[in-house]
Amino acid sequence: MGELDGKAALVTGGSRGIGRAVARRLAAEGALVAVHYGANRAAAAETVALIAEAGGVAFAVRAGFGESGAVDRLFEELTAGLAEHGADGLDILVNNAGVHSASSIGQLTEEELERLLAVNVRTPIFVIQRALPLLRDGGRIVNVGSAATRIASPLQIGYTVTKAALAALGPSLANEFGRRGITVNTVEPGVVLTDMTAGWTGAPEAVAGLESITALGRIGEPEDVADVVGFLAGPRGRWVTGQTLDVSGGTYLGPIPAG
Ligand SMILES: NC(=O)c1ccc[n+]([C@@H]2O[C@H](COP(=O)([O-])OP(=O)(O)OC[C@H]3O[C@@H](n4cnc5c(N)ncnc54)[C@H](OP(=O)(O)O)[C@@H]3O)[C@@H](O)[C@H]2O)c1
Repeated sequence: MGELDGKAALVTGGSRGIGRAVARRLAAEGALVAVHYGANRAAAAETVALIAEAGGVAFAVRAGFGESGAVDRLFEELTAGLAEHGADGLDILVNNAGVHSASSIGQLTEEELERLLAVNVRTPIFVIQRALPLLRDGGRIVNVGSAATRIASPLQIGYTVTKAALAALGPSLANEFGRRGITVNTVEPGVVLTDMTAGWTGAPEAVAGLESITALGRIGEPEDVADVVGFLAGPRGRWVTGQTLDVSGGTYLGPIPAG
């Protein structure tokens, strides 16, 4: 018996990285998981296969965020997949799909900001809107933001602004849906080893620099974030809502005593 037996979840960006770890975590607790992807069908199929190998149940759904009609397509595939697996509603929505860009205010272009807003903010807002009629009482919404909103990072200004906007949804939606037992929270990871950070974490000096300002002394793994999302998505997270939770191992909290 898992704590999510009988529940159904949608994890956007479940094909790779943090989303894959979240999808596996929810499925391991018994949830039926819709693994969303944008372009990488093979990666989504691998997530589904990994879940099946572990005894769970999942299916893939595609929607390229930023493409016209993406949300319609996502919900068509989602409702069909849920029905195929005997489910008629949703219990957990994890808005995880996202894109990054490394630009200062001087470098940022309008096209770049439009893309960041489309994938990281606009589409998640309409995914939530479309999920609400499906979301059962006691449901969970977890948005994946970024610790970049807490730690000044001038070289990713567009990305930071979009993640702040995503986090801003939490309290208002929590108030609107709390009477139905639906919680809405945001997790803000620090640097996590995924494809998104691969270009950067390949440099040992960059990794050492980050470790030196992180209380727990290492870079995050996708599972570090997935466990927190799993808690918020499960029955034990029922009394936490409208919150933004730093999940960075204590990155840049202040000076770390020597020795
Ligand atoms: N890694 C970090 O250090 C870190 C830190 C803080 C916050 N985050 C946030 O955590 C989330 C996951 O990051 P990650 O590191 O796991 O990223 P990742 O490895 O690059 O994976 C990104 C995921 O988002 C999906 N995606 C990207 N663009 C999309 C689009 N236009 N339409 C639909 N889906 C799209 C990808 O689908 P495909 O596989 O189909 O491309 C993939 O599943 C993001 O929101 C990110 O901003 C990451």
